[in-house]
Amino acid sequence: MKIAVLYGGTSGEREVSLSTGKGIIQALKENGHEVTGIDFHPERLDELLKLNVDLVFIGLHGKFGEDGKIQGLLDILDIPYVGSGVLASALAMDKAKAKQIFEKNQLPVAKGIAIPVKRHTQQEIIDLVQGKFTPPYVVKPNQEGSTLGLTIVKKAEQLPEAVKNAVHSDDMLLVEEFISGREFTVAVIGSQGEEQALPVIEIIPKNDYYDFDSKYKPGGSEHIIPARISDSLTGQLQTYAVRAHQLLGCDVYSRVDFIVTETGEPVVLEVNTLPGMTPTSLFPDAAKVVGWSYEQMVEQFVTLSLK
Ligand code: DAL
Ligand code: MG
Repeated sequence: MKIAVLYGGTSGEREVSLSTGKGIIQALKENGHEVTGIDFHPERLDELLKLNVDLVFIGLHGKFGEDGKIQGLLDILDIPYVGSGVLASALAMDKAKAKQIFEKNQLPVAKGIAIPVKRHTQQEIIDLVQGKFTPPYVVKPNQEGSTLGLTIVKKAEQLPEAVKNAVHSDDMLLVEEFISGREFTVAVIGSQGEEQALPVIEIIPKNDYYDFDSKYKPGGSEHIIPARISDSLTGQLQTYAVRAHQLLGCDVYSRVDFIVTETGEPVVLEVNTLPGMTPTSLFPDAAKVVGWSYEQMVEQFVTLSLK
């Protein structure tokens, strides 16, 4: 099959995507496909069109890759692609909107508020946050990935810097209560209505929390698969993961991130519609545990996308 892999791009997660793209291109070639990798910028659209491919594998992360926009462009061009469509991608990328949907459907989420930065002065934002939260709390961009722009505010004085960090990526801020607990994630795979959850992964970061370095530096975190938790908590996380994936209308694959509180209550953090496929990424590790090599995992995504 003739496949183009779009990777790199212009988002804050460009470096992550370069690594994801490399892995996917290599795997597809090993699987016998005719593959062209495109470090995707809009001016390379002509190149994509000339290739006349059977399928696009989107190896991008973050803005203009994971947020539904490239999916919309491919829909207009009538080029099939791997993974979730426009609406699911846009909803998953918009953490505040996704949380509203989860909350309405009885999935537990962190309490928080979204603040449109352009409608407020810096002082109004600070007053608004301090009127509603006492440290520790989390300040992050509403639409971003790989924990870029995220600060755990432990002391009130950190707030202005935290706001500055977050608005660098997005003009909508998300402020959430800090949930102390253990970090877990669940990979979901399957066509719509037939999804299955892979074994639960517990993430043990070497840093205080699962930040950028813990995610991408070799040895930055330990992935325990299957997580050493009770069967009932495993079942609950897997059920929530499939439910979150379905509620947003995701397709083919996603990865759903959780914190489990010290009293054992799971909280859904977010759904990643284009989770990382780098050498330190979580999804390929879960696939390995159920007996799929990286190449077999990628081939399943391709097969499911053509159904
Ligand atoms: N946003 C990164 C790529 C992930 O969730 O894996
Ligand atoms: Mg993410």
